[in-house]
Amino acid sequence: MTDFYVFLGALVGLAVGLWAWRRWHPDSFWYGVAFPARVALVYLTWSHVASGCGLTRTRQRWRYTLDALPVVGPAARNAATVVQYKRQLRRVGVEKAPRLGLPRPTRLGWRVRLRLSGGQAPADYEKAAERIAHAWRVHSVRVVDVTPGHVTLWATMRDPLTVVEVTPETEELLKVRPGKLENGQDWIIDFRVVPHWLNAGATQSGKSNLANAIIKALAPQPVALVGFDLKGGVEFTPYAPRLSALATTRTQCRALLDDLVAELEDRMEQCRSHGARNVWRLPEELRPVPIVVLIDEVAELFLMADKSEKDEVARTGTALLRVAQLGRAFAVHLVVCGQRIGSDLGPGVTALRAQLSGRVCHRVNDPETANMTLGDMDPAALDAARAIPAETPGVCIVAGQDGSWHRARSVYVSEEAAETAARDHAHLTPDWNDLTGSSLTTGPGCSAAA
Ligand SMILES: Nc1ncnc2c1ncn2[C@@H]1O[C@H](COP(=O)(O)OP(=O)(O)OP(=O)(O)O)[C@@H](O)[C@H]1O
Ligand SMILES: [Mg+2]
Repeated sequence: MTDFYVFLGALVGLAVGLWAWRRWHPDSFWYGVAFPARVALVYLTWSHVASGCGLTRTRQRWRYTLDALPVVGPAARNAATVVQYKRQLRRVGVEKAPRLGLPRPTRLGWRVRLRLSGGQAPADYEKAAERIAHAWRVHSVRVVDVTPGHVTLWATMRDPLTVVEVTPETEELLKVRPGKLENGQDWIIDFRVVPHWLNAGATQSGKSNLANAIIKALAPQPVALVGFDLKGGVEFTPYAPRLSALATTRTQCRALLDDLVAELEDRMEQCRSHGARNVWRLPEELRPVPIVVLIDEVAELFLMADKSEKDEVARTGTALLRVAQLGRAFAVHLVVCGQRIGSDLGPGVTALRAQLSGRVCHRVNDPETANMTLGDMDPAALDAARAIPAETPGVCIVAGQDGSWHRARSVYVSEEAAETAARDHAHLTPDWNDLTGSSLTTGPGCSAAA
C-alpha cells in the first residue's frame, strides 16, 4: 500500500513539475519535452496520415504470404472443404509513405523535409496541407521550401502572425520590410522589383499602418516622398517634414500630378540623350532621386459631386495612369491605398489597377473587393483574404507579380513613430522645386512641405 502511495505521489510530483516547467519556461519545455513527444507522434502515425491524405504509393515488395491449397484425395471427394495453408514468398503491393526526414524544431513548431515519391509534385502536398495539419493537431502546415525531388513542410502550433516584430528599415535603396510572412520570412517590398503597389482593405483593416511602415522605412533613404491625401490631409500632414510635396485638395492633386508627369518626361528625355533604357542605367552622378508617391483613399480622386467635375476627374485619372505607366522605368513609384478600387469609380481605374503589380489585400467586407484586388489568383488566396478576422488588423494577403501569394502581417507602426521618423530625417527631404526643375511649378496649392 505504501508503495502505491509513493508511486502516486511521484506521478503527481512529475505532473506538477512538468506543468510548472511549461508555465514558467515554455521555450525550454518545448525543446526538451513537447517537441520530442510531437516527433515521436509524427513518426509513429506518418504511414496512416500519408495514406489518409492520399500521399502513399503502391510498391511491389517480396513478402511471405499464406496460400490456401485445396487438398485432393478422399477429403475432397467428401465435399468437405479441406484446405491446407502453405507459406510462399511472392511479390505483393504494399502502400509506401514518402520518406520523412528529421524534424527540426522552430520556435513555433517544426520543419521536416520529405522526399517526393515518383509522380508527385509539391502541389500534392499543398492540397493535403490542411488534412496533415488536422492529423498533427497543429495550427497550420505549409509547403515552404521546394527543391527538385524534395519539399519541406512547416508545421506551426499557433498563428505566427499573432505577434510581429521586425524593423521596417533596410540598408538597401527602395527596399522596405513592412512585416512578416506566414512562413516566418520577412515580408520585403522592393520597389525596384515590383514598382507599384495596390493596398486595399475595409476600414480599420490596417492600410494606413502599412503606409506608416513604408514611410518610416523610406524616411532615412535618399528618396523623395510625395503624399496625396484627400481625407483633408489628416493622414499625411503629420509626416509633412519628410514629404517633398503634399496635396490635400483635388486642385492640388491635379497640379501635383502634372508636375509628376512633367518630371517623368524630363527623366525620359535625359535617359534618351544618354542612350539609357531606364534611370538605373544612367551614370550614378546623373541618376535622379527616386520618388515614392503615397495615395490615401484613391476613390476620392475619382469621385464627382456633379457633371461639371467630369473632365477634371478624367484628366486626373489619365495623369495617374501615365505616372504608373512611365514610373517603372524612371524611378517614380506608386503606393495606392483604398477601400475598393473597381471599375465603378471611373473608366481609367481598371487600367490603373493593371499597372499596380504588387497587391496587398487586407480584410475585406465583400468577396468582389478581394477578387478585384487579387485578380484571378489561386482561389485559395481569395478564401484566405475573406477569412481574415477583424480582430487582427494588419493581416493581409500579399501577391507579387510572379503569381505566388502569402499571408502576411505588417508590423505595428504608430503614427507617432512614423512622425518621429519623418521629423528626424527632415533634412533628407529633397525640395520639390529643385527636384522637378525650376521650369516647373508645384501648383498653387501643393505645399512644398519641407
Ligand atoms: N499590423 C498591425 N498590428 C497591430 N495593430 C494594427 C496593425 N495595423 C493596424 N493596426 C491597428 O488597427 C487600427 C486601424 O488601422 P489603420 O488605421 O491602418 O486602418 P485603415 O485600413 O487605414 O482604416 P481607414 O480605412 O479607416 O483609414 C489602428 O488603430 C491600429 O492600431
Ligand atoms: Mg487609413
